[in-house]
Amino acid sequence: MKITIIGTGYVGLVTGACLAELGNDVFCLDLDQRKIAMLNSGGIPIHEPGLAEIVSRNRAAGRLHFSTDIAASVAHGQIQFIAVGTPPDEDGSADLQYVLAAAANIGKYMTGFKVIVDKSTVPVGTADKVSAAIQAELDARNLSGAPIQFSVVSNPEFLKEGAAVEDFMRPDRIVIGCDDSPAGQQAHTLMKQLYLPFNRNHERTYWMDVRSAEFTKYAANAMLATRISFMNELANLADKVGADIEAVRHGIGSDPRIGYSFLYAGCGYGGSCFPKDVQALERTARDYGQELLILRAVEQVNNHQKHVLGQKITERFGPDLQGKHFALWGLAFKPNTDDMREASSRVLLRELIDRGATVAVHDPVAMAEAQRVLELDFADDRGALQRIRFCDNQADALQDADALVIVTEWKTFRSPDFDQVKARLKAPIVFDGRNLYEPQVMRDIGFEYYGIGRSV
Ligand code: NAD
Ligand code: UGA
Repeated sequence: MKITIIGTGYVGLVTGACLAELGNDVFCLDLDQRKIAMLNSGGIPIHEPGLAEIVSRNRAAGRLHFSTDIAASVAHGQIQFIAVGTPPDEDGSADLQYVLAAAANIGKYMTGFKVIVDKSTVPVGTADKVSAAIQAELDARNLSGAPIQFSVVSNPEFLKEGAAVEDFMRPDRIVIGCDDSPAGQQAHTLMKQLYLPFNRNHERTYWMDVRSAEFTKYAANAMLATRISFMNELANLADKVGADIEAVRHGIGSDPRIGYSFLYAGCGYGGSCFPKDVQALERTARDYGQELLILRAVEQVNNHQKHVLGQKITERFGPDLQGKHFALWGLAFKPNTDDMREASSRVLLRELIDRGATVAVHDPVAMAEAQRVLELDFADDRGALQRIRFCDNQADALQDADALVIVTEWKTFRSPDFDQVKARLKAPIVFDGRNLYEPQVMRDIGFEYYGIGRSV
């Protein structure tokens, strides 16, 4: 099938590459000329396991094209995926300007029936706005003859960064919202054909109305964020009462009604989605006169949780960290990505630097992106950035630090040479923001150890 993907970011690039891998002829559009030039010269703008191979294979096979040409992109695909960003507006609502601009472009150039798929995470009711934006452009063209038909479908994406290709290729579920107009039925047929390869062994698609599909995406992210904040709050209490949140996690996760996933306490959730989607759903509710009290708490707990490591450090060393030097392992918001959006490391670094400390940081893949982002974070204080040293490897970062602080649970941090860690640090102190190590084992080998909710 001929597919166009509008927006070649995390979701657009993965969607485009994976649909090409299944034999479709895919045209990826982005307005960012540098991104498209990079992709056309064999580069990949993001770190995502397995993605480079798929992109290169399908480019070579002539099934995957990257371009900034809007008219060509509209002409190409019978199905047009909108996969552009929906960042938070000042009031927390999803900013739809990129989605509606993409829709308007489709209306400007389309000459025959199209299915427009909202892949971006968008609030309930957005499909109607996308339809209106397309129709307004069609009307402005004053075309003669029969009206050009189209249908807007909601097909939210559930992939996780760091496992995006695997998640896309082997989805738990595919959610598709269509309306039941004749154009909607035509869209249903085309979407069914497109996703057939994913449904061969068992049916994974949940068909529903458009609004329910839009809502499902926010409900899923809000539920996952709620589980994390709930566990973080329990972990903070476990620290006070002398219980071990990891033992508690096993104890409750073994109940199949609860399950083990997304019960890991830590130093807060980050990324481009949970923080913004929780806010956007709260905002939607407010627009309809309802307060989502649980979600407000989820957000507050998470904002607090990003300061928990900083609090533990100041409880140990005092509020003034002048003259103190820390090793920080992990900058990305989670492992297997170089994405720094809403990463907990940024909050911690701000706190340590503002209190006068120096920090040596290392991340296995996010170093360049971290440097770029931290330059912006500390734009108000150039001297501050000079107190952050970027180290090429995790061992170098340890040298003469007063403590090691872990923010991201990269595999390479799980079983370090603890003798070397101890030898390089000034004092054997570890603040473990992702509960990578066993407190008793750490104590037995001579470390002063602080986890999250592990004060047994
Ligand atoms: P991103 O910021 O990585 O990429 C968006 C891309 O769209 C950018 O390259 C930008 O240049 C391009 N763009 C903007 N306006 C355009 C236009 N009019 N025409 C063509 N290109 C345009 O965003 P992302 O992380 O891929 O997220 C996209 C959407 O998917 C968001 O709504 C997000 O919430 C949702 N989502 C993201 C993930 C994830 O893991 N990142 C997972 C599921 C859903
Ligand atoms: C999340 C969802 O998991 C995806 O299903 C969804 O498609 C995506 O958001 C989205 O809408 O963009 P992602 O943000 O890539 O995916 O990463 P997650 O693995 O969900 O982790 C998010 C954050 O939660 C990370 O900072 C992670 O460290 C934290 N986390 C996760 C915890 O603190 N505890 C856990 O138990 C799990």
